[in-house]
Amino acid sequence: MAATPLPEGPPARLALLAADEIARCVVAASVWAPSVYNTQPWRFTVGGQRISLYADAERQLMVADPDGREMMISCGAALFTARLALRSLGYIPQASVLPDLDQPLLVARVSWDQRAASTGFEQKLFGQVRQRRTHRGGFDLVPLPPGLLATLREGAARHGAMLRIVADDGRRAALAAAIQAAERAQRLDSERVQEMARWAPAPGSARADGVPPDSYPARAEHTDPDFPGRDFAHGRGWGLPPLSSAPWPRSAGVAALLTTAHDRPVDWINAGQALQRVLLIASAFGAAVALHTQPLEFGSLRESIRTQLSDGAYPQLVLRFGMVIQTAASVRRPPDDVLSAGGSEDLSISHE
Ligand SMILES: Cc1cc2nc3c(=O)[nH]c(=O)nc-3n(C[C@H](O)[C@H](O)[C@H](O)COP(=O)(O)O)c2cc1C
Repeated sequence: MAATPLPEGPPARLALLAADEIARCVVAASVWAPSVYNTQPWRFTVGGQRISLYADAERQLMVADPDGREMMISCGAALFTARLALRSLGYIPQASVLPDLDQPLLVARVSWDQRAASTGFEQKLFGQVRQRRTHRGGFDLVPLPPGLLATLREGAARHGAMLRIVADDGRRAALAAAIQAAERAQRLDSERVQEMARWAPAPGSARADGVPPDSYPARAEHTDPDFPGRDFAHGRGWGLPPLSSAPWPRSAGVAALLTTAHDRPVDWINAGQALQRVLLIASAFGAAVALHTQPLEFGSLRESIRTQLSDGAYPQLVLRFGMVIQTAASVRRPPDDVLSAGGSEDLSISHE
């Protein structure tokens, strides 16, 4: 995030008063990061000109995500959003990721004291934070905007991740087959089904988390090859009417894997940062993105994707990019639910 220096900031007293307001703006944006099952597995504390971002282990998917990998990816996406929000306010974020080995849930500390004007690109990305929606289904037969894939690859690389386009027909079919296999296995596993049902509220629910019925199609939209979406409705008839009257199967779009060279919590957080950057860039270009982590939640399928489709690198997300008019909705908890003043916990950290 390159930037041009701004004139000197406000006097220290005003800057102190403003810190709470800044933190609120940052958290209000960060909660719009994507998260697995929209669990929003994060909480924030603020103290002075510093926000601490914690993973909220009570929101971890203990069946689908026992290692907390997807929880950390989600928090990484929130971290990228927090940094981008600070840039949009004209601050230079200083982030330290996993700063305390004794606190594995402390994902990052982000502080800001220097100012610099945000670039047009940063403002454009920030403008997508609330607009962007996860797409679930097929795409129109319209090509992606020129230059998008190169920009996405470059964006992922900034966080040490790699966006690998799966273009070859055979590999695309193998990736689709892994998702189909995961969907079949998921449907036969009552613990997984029950866990997903807990994050799939009924129509009209007032819940501010989980995947609402107006964010997925009522009838599975088949693509060629078929990349099945998660079955949030589970036979209850919930969901949106078809997006288009075009005959099925619809286009699967451009399939890709987001991978990292290693598979430690720091890699998961970086993958999350890369994910959110990629999603916001795609949205800024007018493209939609579908996510499929179903096969990465089964060790054997993840391993076969790693060895056969990603040159031994660790797959963190499966993505599909395409063009479509989206009507999906989403929900978030209000910032006050996830933000608290940095109490003794945070102070003791800084004195260690
Ligand atoms: C780690 C991770 C895994 C995800 N896996 C899937 C998935 O397998 N299928 C899906 O439809 N969405 C997936 N999503 C998207 C979330 O469901 C989505 O971000 C959340 O419901 C909020 O909706 P929004 O992105 O439209 O704001 C995933 C998101 C993250 C961060």
